[in-house]
Amino acid sequence: MLYKIEDQATSKMDESRQGEALFLERKGQALGKFYYIESYGCQMNFSDSEIVASVLSDEGLSSTRNILEADFVFLNTCSIREKAEETVRKRLKEIAALKKSKKDLMVGVLGCMAERLKSKFLEEEKLVDIVVGPDAYRDLPRLIQIAEEGDKGVNVFLSKEETYADIAPLRFDSNGVSAYISIMRGCDNMCSFCVVPYTRGRERSRDPFSIVAEAHDLFNNGYREVTLLGQNVDSYKWQNPESETWVRFSDLLVLVAEVNPLLRIRFSTSHPKDITDEVLRTMASYPNICKYIHLPVQSGSSRILSLMNRTYDREWYIERINSIKSIIPDCAISSDIITGFCTEDEKDHQDTLSMMQYVEYCMSYMFFYSERPGTPAARKLKDDIPEAIKKERLNEIIRLQHQLSYQHNQKDIGKTFEVLIEGNSKRSDQMFKGRNSQNKKVIFPKEHGLKPGDYVLVKIESASSATLTGIIDN
Ligand code: 5AD
Ligand code: SF4
Repeated sequence: MLYKIEDQATSKMDESRQGEALFLERKGQALGKFYYIESYGCQMNFSDSEIVASVLSDEGLSSTRNILEADFVFLNTCSIREKAEETVRKRLKEIAALKKSKKDLMVGVLGCMAERLKSKFLEEEKLVDIVVGPDAYRDLPRLIQIAEEGDKGVNVFLSKEETYADIAPLRFDSNGVSAYISIMRGCDNMCSFCVVPYTRGRERSRDPFSIVAEAHDLFNNGYREVTLLGQNVDSYKWQNPESETWVRFSDLLVLVAEVNPLLRIRFSTSHPKDITDEVLRTMASYPNICKYIHLPVQSGSSRILSLMNRTYDREWYIERINSIKSIIPDCAISSDIITGFCTEDEKDHQDTLSMMQYVEYCMSYMFFYSERPGTPAARKLKDDIPEAIKKERLNEIIRLQHQLSYQHNQKDIGKTFEVLIEGNSKRSDQMFKGRNSQNKKVIFPKEHGLKPGDYVLVKIESASSATLTGIIDN
């Protein structure tokens, strides 16, 4: 039998009573068992896995980084492009081989792919025991028990309220210096190409007091950088039920920035239609709010932006860039770009290239369009650009971005930046790696007494398109 809660809620009262009884009963059973989580896709998924880890640990399970040791394997999945889903299916095949030698291994699929495919997943991938959408992680203990009893556990209920505000994420894969804090969930934007509104549900903002408390805790535990995460952080909005006053994103930035001047604040992702001058001015006035904005343009062509339902045009985007450049002159800007969206012609493509040159992005994530089932673009527009052209345009965009990143970094030679040390560089354990406020990776030789979490001034001596290299300049 298949247990599932699809699009229906059980009463809160019943849920909590059942949860309590189940917790006491299961604690004993779960002790000594190990879970392994692998995350795919966006930062939000990595952050969600820390919530999942917290739920599982409360259940008495221990985490392992060795899949061979695991009794439960969870894949936190991504649906954003077809390729992301293919990667997960390939990984499931490898896990199927593992399951042959370990019959009682339980396999759970979490996140966006679970939400998109719901119980269809169980028909398509026989080895999967548990399917859990992004708003149902509290239900994992019950679903695990169902799976252990030999049935399949599915919960893909999307909530209008869940923000996991009271769950302290378990930072199981952390460098001890930087951490994510999820400030909102879901997305109401309905960009026509995007599956996220369907897999992550409606937008909701988390209570700011719990966000600030989490930032304080992280700081007290030695962390020195937090990234505030949301699909569209600029539409963060929370109403205090007592005073009825609203906390907007710029207010939240102030609250978190004031936790401690030694705590760096980053955030992602901003939306060009919503980013306000108020946010930019707040960034400019707090040295610990990093001077870096990820502002996905998607396309430089107003015609394509309209088909994408991005709700801004080229001129609006350029005006936002001009504002950033005038309010925060040292701000680095990065982007997401899609090539080969429906009907895109050579002129649209040239508009994207010229936009990249205008903004001088320090970095971009670049993709060719991948039609996602059920999205407005899939329903209303023809995916009519041949793959060869999509890829050709993508290559051209990648080449240009490489040049822009190189030029951007070359301009930093001779400058001195405050760098937060993250750990050893991959290249050599005689070198540290860290980041400057503009989110650029900086490599420099170690000096006695310095450790991850320390701030240090580094003078840049050379630069590639990906990394700045320098020496300590205290
Ligand atoms: N095809 C290609 N790229 C996509 N993105 C979102 N949906 C698609 C799609 N269907 C990209 C966008 C977004 C980033 C997270 O992924 O650029 O900003
Ligand atoms: Fe997708 Fe657009 Fe929402 Fe980003 S803002 S998650 S691209 S719908």
